[in-house]
Order: sequence, then structure tokens, then C-alpha cells
Amino acid sequence: MSIFLLPLHVSDVEALKQQAGIAACDFVREGMKIGLGTGSTVRYTVLELGRRMQEEGLSIVGVPTSEATRELAESLGIPLVPLVEAGVLDIVIDGADEFDPDYNLIKGGGGALTREKIVVQSSRGMLVVADDRKQVDVLGAFDLPIEVLPFEWQRTADRVAEICPGAVVRRGGDEPIITDNGGYILDCSFGPTIANPRELEKFLLDIAGVVQVGLFVGICDAVVMAASGGVVTLVNQGGRLI
Ligand code: 5RP
Repeated sequence: MSIFLLPLHVSDVEALKQQAGIAACDFVREGMKIGLGTGSTVRYTVLELGRRMQEEGLSIVGVPTSEATRELAESLGIPLVPLVEAGVLDIVIDGADEFDPDYNLIKGGGGALTREKIVVQSSRGMLVVADDRKQVDVLGAFDLPIEVLPFEWQRTADRVAEICPGAVVRRGGDEPIITDNGGYILDCSFGPTIANPRELEKFLLDIAGVVQVGLFVGICDAVVMAASGGVVTLVNQGGRLI
């Protein structure tokens, strides 16, 4: 018997993103301090939080991980505070480009990896929102984003290329795209080979000029994942949410 898997339409994928984004709000409680991630999936979480504040009187404060998320949250009337004022956050809700069976992540498809990592490292928990295309056995089919300083960035790229020959600077037209921090992004095609993400992260962070690496290792506590059959929450048994 042959089984044909039909590709998901864009609208189906968008619906899954919305379902995951909204379902994650079940973890939100009155008075929480929440890290607000970046991307097209967590956008639905932020929209839902705004709705609940308006319609249900929910009271929360947020710390945004990008200027795009700041603008969205502000437009919805979500009060924002700097991390230094918020202290330790109750939870961060964010998207991911890939997650593996150990809940290690590739992030940075939206270029916000450095701020995202700063915020998640100041939080008691991390919840990822994703559709099931993001679930992988081994990280790396999605090109690994690395934020680098613009200063002599080609030299930094050469050093990164010693272990990842496929590293290219992310461009918008002819010019490199500039992150919220004034950095550039290198996208590195490892292929699905990143079996030891912690070692790779350390190795890359050792290169001068590398600001941050889009590997989030040992920090994700659960994934709210939407698939065509429904939404499931995958909980990291070694994580902080159990
Ligand atoms: C931004 C990110 C995003 O969370 C990641 O790229 C997933 O985005 P999307 O939900 O749009 O697929 O890491 O830096």
C-alpha cells in the first residue's frame, strides 16, 4: 500500500501556529512577569495575552525580546518593563526553528537570538510554541543563526567557516541585515548533524566577534506543539515545569 502525504497549505500552517500560540496562554497566571518571544507563532500568544487583558482583566507585565515584539505588545496595551526592573521572570514564551528529543533548540530565524537568550536566562521557565514541522531527531536541517559583530565580520565568518563551510551572512538585498543590536547574522548549514549542541555552542562562542549562537541547550522546559491532530504539550522531564 502506498501512503501519500499531502503538503500542508500555508493557511494550515498558519492555523497550527495560531493554535499553539493561543494554547500556551493556559500557562499564564494573574500577575506573572512574562518574557515575550519573537516570531510568527509567538505573535499569536502576544495577541491572545492582549485580548485577555482587554476582555478578562488579566494583569501581567512583559519583557519583549525584540523591537518587533515591543511594538506589538505596546499596540495591545501590554505593560512592558526592562529586565533589570522585572528581576527573575516567571516564564518566557517563545518560538523555535527546531527542537530535538532533549528539548534543545535552534532559534534565531527571526534574528532575535541574542535578546531571546538574555531574557530566557533570567526566567524560571521556558515554554516553546511550535507546529510539528519544528520537531526533529537531530538539530541542524534549519541553518544555525549566529549573531556577529559587524567589525571585521568576514574574518569572524572565516573562522566560523572552519567548522561550517556553509556559513553565509544574512542579507536583505545587497546589504547584510542588521539586528536590533546592530549586529549581523551568519546562517550556517550544518545539516541534521548537531548531535552535541552544547559542545558546538561553546566552540562557536569562543570565536571573537561571535556575539551569540542560536543554540538553546538545556533551557527549554516544555513545547506546546500543534499538529493536524490537535495541540499537545511535550514536557521536559528534566525541566523546571514539573
Ligand atoms: C526569532 C526566533 C523565532 O522564535 C523562530 O525563528 C521561530 O519563528 P516562527 O514562529 O516565525 O517560525 O527564534 O529569533
